[in-house]
Amino acid sequence: MGDLIMSDDIARLLRAARAVIPCSYAPYSGFPVGAAILTVSGEVFAGCNVENAAYPLGLCAEAVALGAMVSAIGAQRLRAALVLTARPVPSWPCGGCRQRLQEFMEADAIVYAAGCEAEPVGIPFARLLPLAFGAGDLAPRSP
Ligand code: THU
Repeated sequence: MGDLIMSDDIARLLRAARAVIPCSYAPYSGFPVGAAILTVSGEVFAGCNVENAAYPLGLCAEAVALGAMVSAIGAQRLRAALVLTARPVPSWPCGGCRQRLQEFMEADAIVYAAGCEAEPVGIPFARLLPLAFGAGDLAPRSP
């Protein structure tokens, strides 16, 4: 289980998401997103959305942040994630990214949503994706 998320962890996540949002490649939606994730060992990784002229091939910021983590240090358990948009009001991760995060989030992990004019708001990941499908569902069952 993860430790309590401290306010300086949230500040680190927000800084990391802010740092990548100017790099967002979102010419089609005009909706830049920055995501940052916090591992149980205290490391932070970030990613921005990367769109494509073939629309469905675009990558969400959360997917890019997870890829950055796995590429840098391998798969880790996560205590928190933060999604930042360039709009005033926060948006929560899309359904696909909730499932992507599910793969790595601790049971008591927190997800924060932030807009450019709003403080981050946090809710337990389990509220964002209740009754989630996960690795446990693939485990062999006893007869
Ligand atoms: N997007 C994200 O990066 N994360 C989300 O959780 C929701 C949507 C991106 C995808 C696309 O580039 C743009 O926002 C508009 O949907």
